[in-house]
Amino acid sequence: MIVTGASGGLGKELALLLIRRYGCRVLGIARNEKKLMLVKSELGDLSDRFEYLLLDVSRRESWTRLAEQVNSGTFIADVLINNAGMLPRFAKFGMYAHDEIETCMSLDQNSVIWAAEHFIPIFEGREGAAIINIASADALCPLAGTSLYSAAKSAVRAFSEALREEYRGRIYIPAVCPGFIRTDIMKDQGHSVSPLVKFFSMPSEKAARIVLRRANGGRSRIVFGTDAHFMSAAYKIAPVLSLRFFRFLFRASNLEMFSDV
Ligand SMILES: NC(=O)c1ccc[n+]([C@@H]2O[C@H](COP(=O)([O-])OP(=O)(O)OC[C@H]3O[C@@H](n4cnc5c(N)ncnc54)[C@H](OP(=O)(O)O)[C@@H]3O)[C@@H](O)[C@H]2O)c1
Repeated sequence: MIVTGASGGLGKELALLLIRRYGCRVLGIARNEKKLMLVKSELGDLSDRFEYLLLDVSRRESWTRLAEQVNSGTFIADVLINNAGMLPRFAKFGMYAHDEIETCMSLDQNSVIWAAEHFIPIFEGREGAAIINIASADALCPLAGTSLYSAAKSAVRAFSEALREEYRGRIYIPAVCPGFIRTDIMKDQGHSVSPLVKFFSMPSEKAARIVLRRANGGRSRIVFGTDAHFMSAAYKIAPVLSLRFFRFLFRASNLEMFSDV
């Protein structure tokens, strides 16, 4: 199994669970070696089941390198979890610098496409092959203040669903759309995370358990979290008014993290 973004948050929990509960070997991908080493040491006696590679998955050449390693037999894998991602600060689109736009779209959207480009040819014909793409509830209901993230994650959802049909019966390709999960993803917000967001979010261990259980059951779309279900339903019922409603909530909350929305 290959898990991107395995040095922290959901990716780390997925890696730990895959090894501890499902008895898998995991190749964890991320950029921070110290954090990856901590994941390995946390595994204790099972640490030999976790290997890691330092790669920036937002760069296409990283996928070429990873595919070469798998093709050469250095690491054997038939499942890839595209989990690495970032949440840009909550702001109106015009407030983002070009660098922020490029960083978000390269990581949250393009990395998933480069992954498919390199790994579909490797996985085709392998029994049990899967590419699990972590999108977000924002892919089911875009939010004002998260234009880039909503666009990237919606693309990941749509891309995964098209591929799911194209490769049906050969490679399992679900899109995962979680609501808030308690991780470090908010750290780039430049504001402290509100107790309200903490209250609504779910622990990363629980999120990892849900992802793996439902993926194991072959679900084509994995949506979880009360907030995710609520956003999805609101958007289906009222695609225009729901966005207005959520923006009103952001503003009415008076929280610093939503002050630029
Ligand atoms: N947390 C939530 O509320 C939430 C909700 C819905 C969806 N999601 C999605 O769930 C996924 C995991 O998020 P999280 O909350 O666990 O985030 P997180 O705690 O910030 O962890 C992100 C992980 O991605 C890695 N990463 C970031 N940029 C990378 C790059 N360029 N190349 C390789 N690895 C990179 C980080 O490791 P390094 O820094 O070591 O590279 C880290 O391991 C993301 O796709 C996110 O969009 C999260």
